[in-house]
Amino acid sequence: MPASRGISDSPRATRLAVLRCFIAAIIGTIVAAGIVALIIWFVVRPKPIEYTITRAVVRHFNVTPPPGATVNATFNLILTADNPNRRVSMRYAHVVLRVLYGDGTQLALADVPDFRQPHHNETRLEVRAVARSAPVPDQAARELEHDIAAGELSVDVRVRAGIRFVVGDVLSRYYRMHGICSPVTIGLSPSAARSFKNVPCDVEI
Ligand SMILES: *[C@@H]1O[C@H](CO)[C@@H](O)[C@H](O)[C@H]1NC(C)=O
Ligand SMILES: *[C@@H]1O[C@H](CO)[C@@H](O)[C@H](O)[C@H]1NC(C)=O
Repeated sequence: MPASRGISDSPRATRLAVLRCFIAAIIGTIVAAGIVALIIWFVVRPKPIEYTITRAVVRHFNVTPPPGATVNATFNLILTADNPNRRVSMRYAHVVLRVLYGDGTQLALADVPDFRQPHHNETRLEVRAVARSAPVPDQAARELEHDIAAGELSVDVRVRAGIRFVVGDVLSRYYRMHGICSPVTIGLSPSAARSFKNVPCDVEI
């Protein structure tokens, strides 16, 4: 009986019903994934790791005059990494600190051994970066001599590292971390270390 054939039996209505069902399934999946992500976020509560230069001393600092200027210096730095997270621990690899002067002239470089940082932990990395007859442009040498006379040296410290985040048994992939701590102003008088002001680092991951 064609007259009793309801509108819902028409092919068009069937297609619409399938489409509605399909869209509802997609929305449901998105909402479920969003809720799972939110729960993980609230359980883990990730907070950024903060990096700070908390001590900087320079010793045996000498500049030969231009032309062909070179620098000798020993930088003793402490880089403090503060991980405030209660559930996230960290693994660090290929950690390199560079001490730069002026327009990016590298004075010294130091490799830091790989290390692990537990959750809710502050790690102080003591780093010794030595400049041994490091070549510097004439202009930089003149500015360095000026700094020696003024009793204060300002450098940039760049940090590079591969980091992995660990939550429970789950390890993230390696991320490249780049940080710049600038300016790190180091007094040259023997008593200057006590008045050093912490320098926070800008970090990109
Ligand atoms: C740096 O040290 C080297 C020896 O390690 C020495 O030959 C050179 O003259 C020193 N340079 C300066 C600027 O003192
Ligand atoms: C942070 O972790 C390091 C390495 O496990 C440990 O040596 C250090 O004592 C810890 N620091 C604090 C403040 O718990």
